[in-house]
Amino acid sequence: MSSQAYVKRTTVTKIRARKGKDPIICLTAYSTPMARLLDPHVDLLLVGDSLGMVLYGMETTLGVTLAHMIMHGQAVSRGARQALVVVDMPFGTYEESPEVAFRNGSRVIRETGCMAVKIEGGARMAKTIAFLVERGVPVMAHVGLLPQSVHTKGGYRVVGRDRADWPPIEADAQAVAEAGAFAVVLEGMAAPLAARITKQVAIPTIGIGASNQCDGQILVTEDMLGMTERVPSFVKIYADLEAGITEAAKSYANDVRARAFPSASHAYAMKNGPRLVSK
Ligand code: KIV
Repeated sequence: MSSQAYVKRTTVTKIRARKGKDPIICLTAYSTPMARLLDPHVDLLLVGDSLGMVLYGMETTLGVTLAHMIMHGQAVSRGARQALVVVDMPFGTYEESPEVAFRNGSRVIRETGCMAVKIEGGARMAKTIAFLVERGVPVMAHVGLLPQSVHTKGGYRVVGRDRADWPPIEADAQAVAEAGAFAVVLEGMAAPLAARITKQVAIPTIGIGASNQCDGQILVTEDMLGMTERVPSFVKIYADLEAGITEAAKSYANDVRARAFPSASHAYAMKNGPRLVSK
């Protein structure tokens, strides 16, 4: 056995069994070092297609490709020891048919070592979810505000603020649960609707901008670390890394200008010589 203590991995069945129990803690991760830091504190790490905006400066998630998700999925899998790793299926890689979704979803699992994929969409994706789950690809569903539908919806709009809008959203959550998803993300949803759906469906709901009534919560890690420019109002900022990084970069620049860095302790000496060369 390796010198590292053996840590039991969270599985989709363990997440599924947490319905109505202690809150499920989830965050996004896109890289090995971030996965390593977050892993001891979370149940689930999502390699979200939000990486298109957070890492690559895209305006929406629509430009994210399967290649992006596979590269970042591999990186996160290398850093996660105990958390369940879920990878987002990017726009255009699963909507066409259950067969296309299976081809791409099974590739993501095979090539990244993740345990499940996430797909956006409710009732319209139910057949695909059932097809994937029956063939060994666990699925986390995603209903409510769907970032990949930004253009058809005319923007990022919170759903369920009007009671008349509730029935199709409730039907979406019910459909993905019945199709076999092990959990469902509720994004950008009025709190009373999120609470109602959480009571109605048999699988855990994971909220993002959907109140504390969900079975779990997820945030984009860089948002809650204060590293992104536009932070949605539902995000609580737990650290101001932007200020920390700015200060560090300024200090480094000042030190280099003043030749205070590298100092003797950061330099390589000759075998029998001084560490620094005097000018
Ligand atoms: O892409 C993402 O990071 C997500 C979460 C915000 C749920 O889908």
